[in-house]
Amino acid sequence: MNRRTFLKSLSLLTLPYLGVLGSQKSKIDFKHGVASGDPTNTHIILWTRVTPSKPSIGQLNVEYQVSKDVNFTNIVSIGTLKADIGRDFTVKVDVDLSKHQPGTNFFYRFKCEDSLSPVGQTKTLPLKNLKHFKIAVFSCSNYPAGYFNAYKDAAKDKSIDLVLHLGDYLYEYKMGDYATENAENLSRVPIPFSELKSLSDYRIRHAQYKSDLDAQLLHASFPMIPIWDDHEVANNSYKTGAQNHQENEGFFLSRKRNALKAYFEWMPVRDIERFGSFYKNFKIGDLVNLQVLESRLSSREKQISYDDFIDKDAGLNKEKFLKELNKERELIGQNQLDKVRKNTSNKYTWNVIAQQVLLSKLKLPDLPEIILENIPAGYEYFRTIIKDDLPYNLDSWDGYPNERRKLLSYLKNKGQILFLAGDSHNCWAGNIKDDQDHFIGVEFGAPSVTSPGTSEATGELFPIKILENMVVNKNDDLVWTNLLNRGYVTIDFTREIAKTRFIGLSQVKTKNYSREVLKEFIVEKNKEII
Ligand SMILES: [Fe+2]
Repeated sequence: MNRRTFLKSLSLLTLPYLGVLGSQKSKIDFKHGVASGDPTNTHIILWTRVTPSKPSIGQLNVEYQVSKDVNFTNIVSIGTLKADIGRDFTVKVDVDLSKHQPGTNFFYRFKCEDSLSPVGQTKTLPLKNLKHFKIAVFSCSNYPAGYFNAYKDAAKDKSIDLVLHLGDYLYEYKMGDYATENAENLSRVPIPFSELKSLSDYRIRHAQYKSDLDAQLLHASFPMIPIWDDHEVANNSYKTGAQNHQENEGFFLSRKRNALKAYFEWMPVRDIERFGSFYKNFKIGDLVNLQVLESRLSSREKQISYDDFIDKDAGLNKEKFLKELNKERELIGQNQLDKVRKNTSNKYTWNVIAQQVLLSKLKLPDLPEIILENIPAGYEYFRTIIKDDLPYNLDSWDGYPNERRKLLSYLKNKGQILFLAGDSHNCWAGNIKDDQDHFIGVEFGAPSVTSPGTSEATGELFPIKILENMVVNKNDDLVWTNLLNRGYVTIDFTREIAKTRFIGLSQVKTKNYSREVLKEFIVEKNKEII
């Protein structure tokens, strides 16, 4: 999309004010848009990045302005921020709006020298008399894999109040690695070309993702609550390492520090690392109690791997594997578990727990031989685990069953929980029960924005709809899956129901697409979904 079509698309959204771009003559540019995030009843993070005429420039003064009207005739908050290389010329303010009613809409923009940024729209979280609140849920937005049509589509929906991004907001891979096959054709070659390791690498990649006009449009339209998954650092990361981090790539903890520094610079989030915990809790009146958990970098112990239990001749040592699987191993850690226990309460109509990896138990069905024959290297153990009825994704909660048991025991009798997850690239809907078969809540797993799903792996080998049925039939608590479409999820909370829609897009390899509601669930309080 060029600048003109971008502006046109904005005007189509009846948000022409979002297209108020900086002066053409100015030497300062706002190339990465504006964003708002982590809203509370009284505060909200406002973010932008200035691109100076030359990188060697020292410090720049950036003014922020918040207004109740789009023309900024009634400015309610104003202040000056410093931009310099120390934060990669990004600026962020946790603006105090406590003098205004919670749930108020605001417009915001930034000014540097004689340049004005685009205008963003945001709102604080409402507090009282709340009948309705709608969130949109995203995960796995992989730039070289396709266009962010899901972002563009959601930006058209004026009834959305808040956006959640459950991680893999960006990917660390180099050109030539995972999901970059079409990058050149799509003009979406990742920069830097290399895998991200240094602070500079992570900053450049963040800048590339924020140069995407659909990402800018989404950010300018709604406040976002984001939390990272693994790829914001490296694939299948855990507290002290990652599958995609090798010894010859330096210290993992330095890489993690670089990735997190760039993340906090470039994302519209409160700098929670200063408070020693990544756990977040947002109260949306007494309608929704939203807890956002971190499951990668603060506590997670290394994933166990089938490779360590399979002997080439003797096969899988199931006993040894199960013993290791069921050991006490942390995923979110006791600190977050305690917070979840303390903060989940049935005084809220809806308790929402949003995190990254699927909580639902998931086993593979008897896959047809045509798929098994074509399983990529590294997944040969699929044959064994199907035979032995074992979980297949040990990076998800299935790899940490002891801590899952603990989490569910803390949530028993706290009212029905609505769990949200990303990470898998496919759509999931299921009931969550503890080992005694008590119903704890429902889980919705959001599809990826662009990252390839299962159907892209199976291709023409086997009809995907039949495979979906086989997966649902195999897993008692799983109600529905879609292994085909990219997209996002919306949830409209009212006092009585949580109307959940899986929005599927026909295409991410072209900018033109059609949308479809793949499935709708009307979640009722304390009732299983069917
Ligand atoms: Fe992902």
